[in-house]
Amino acid sequence: MPANIIDGKALAKRLREEFSIRVKTLQASGITPGLAVILIGENPASQVYVGNKVKACAECGVRSFRHTLPADTPETEVIALIGRLNADRDVHGILVQLPLPPHIDLRRVLEAIDVHKDVDGFHLYNVGGLVVGDSIFPPCTPYGVQLLLETTGLPVEGKNAVIVGASNIVGKPMALMLLQKEATVTICHAKTKNLAQHTIIADILIVAAGSPGLIVPQMVKEGAIVIDIGINRMPDGSITGDVDFKGVSQKASWITPVPGGVGPMTVTMLIANTLRSAERVAGQQEVLGEWEK
Ligand code: GUN
Repeated sequence: MPANIIDGKALAKRLREEFSIRVKTLQASGITPGLAVILIGENPASQVYVGNKVKACAECGVRSFRHTLPADTPETEVIALIGRLNADRDVHGILVQLPLPPHIDLRRVLEAIDVHKDVDGFHLYNVGGLVVGDSIFPPCTPYGVQLLLETTGLPVEGKNAVIVGASNIVGKPMALMLLQKEATVTICHAKTKNLAQHTIIADILIVAAGSPGLIVPQMVKEGAIVIDIGINRMPDGSITGDVDFKGVSQKASWITPVPGGVGPMTVTMLIANTLRSAERVAGQQEVLGEWEK
């Protein structure tokens, strides 16, 4: 039987509708959530991502403050801007779009962001918080995947979760979040030998490798839940994931499509974190989010 589709687009739409209502509640108490987005340089993909983030803010009633800086902006200027945004009461979330130009030190920039406005969840404090299960903001892509997994109604506890890809912003935090939910977690990466030997035991297979069609049906356990985080632009301009969707959906029990799976959830969770930040300022939420409990 072909797999059930995990519809990220539909879930993102539902969540954004809920967020719009929460924004109105906040506005009634005099607070409009605000997200500052810093883009340094002219990376075309980053320009598209930032455009999508600003658009999603508008859709939910969140204010966005876009700061576009030239590629040769000195690091000190970027850090000074972050300092001003940290102090700005209209700004509840600060995001620096990655990658940065090579002369700017990623760690110093991320550490300059107030942890209570770090809606990307990239500050070391938030990364460290994931290890002990109480980060202030979960990073957006793994957070979105977590909600997508919940829509299957299947428990994560005790399952073999295999993650292909060990990046700091997706693979590693995803592993920590699943560990927190008591899965048995394996992380595979570019140096992993015999990838299939690991993927075939996965009850939950999460792929963020940036390699189109990497995961073929022979690598997937019958009945697995398969989450494809890959976004690969093909020569014909189409977007494809890291999973052979057609083949693997004949074996999986649940699968995310690309596009329309994880992608819409990433931006949606950025709005979720910004909204949560504003709600904390308004005293409507505790600092720990419900997902950690
Ligand atoms: N570049 C690629 N993905 C991301 C992301 O999730 N956040 C930021 N800030 N930059 C990115």
